[in-house]
Amino acid sequence: MSTEFTNPNLEIMFTAEEISARIKELGAQITAEYKDKDLVLVGVLKGSVLFMADLMREIDLNLKIDFMAVSSYKDGTVSSGDVEILKDLTNPIRGKDVIIVEDIVDTGLTLFRLTEILGSRGANSLKIATLLDKPEPRIKKDLKIDYKGFTIPNRFVVGYGLDAAGRWRNLPFIGVVIDPSKI
Ligand code: IMP
Ligand code: MG
Repeated sequence: MSTEFTNPNLEIMFTAEEISARIKELGAQITAEYKDKDLVLVGVLKGSVLFMADLMREIDLNLKIDFMAVSSYKDGTVSSGDVEILKDLTNPIRGKDVIIVEDIVDTGLTLFRLTEILGSRGANSLKIATLLDKPEPRIKKDLKIDYKGFTIPNRFVVGYGLDAAGRWRNLPFIGVVIDPSKI
């Protein structure tokens, strides 16, 4: 029997165990680097929710979290370049040490725009953490990614928060869609 977790149209790229091991490393690195800082993790909804939930538990600091929702992909697999704020932060970030937590950087347009927006709000520091980095389609080539889980080839991936047309975010692993026409 095929379930969504064993969907034959998906090929596993990173298992839940591989993701978890890498996030432990990132969490340890952030813990060491933000020891004397006032850290706020800003998750970009919805794709970052699983990464955010796991990463924050690997950071042994008295941090805060907040969320933003932006839309750049309108239910498709091609970037429109538009970044629209659908939900803003709940609290000001003035004086805080902010890490934006993203699921994946592709063209870089979303994070470039987000760092422009958040960069104008008086944070003490602003860095980027992404689980996946897909450098090939990058348009904003000078976007600096401070913490990254994995660098991946130019394939469309789903699972562990990442979706195709809103689906497959709940897969515990990251998979490549073998035939995107069958999503
Ligand atoms: P960028 O603005 O092109 O860097 O795109 C970033 C956003 O596009 C991510 O936060 C994802 O929501 C989405 N995205 C880019 N590549 C993929 C993918 O392979 N699978 C699912 N979503 C993706
Ligand atoms: Mg996203």
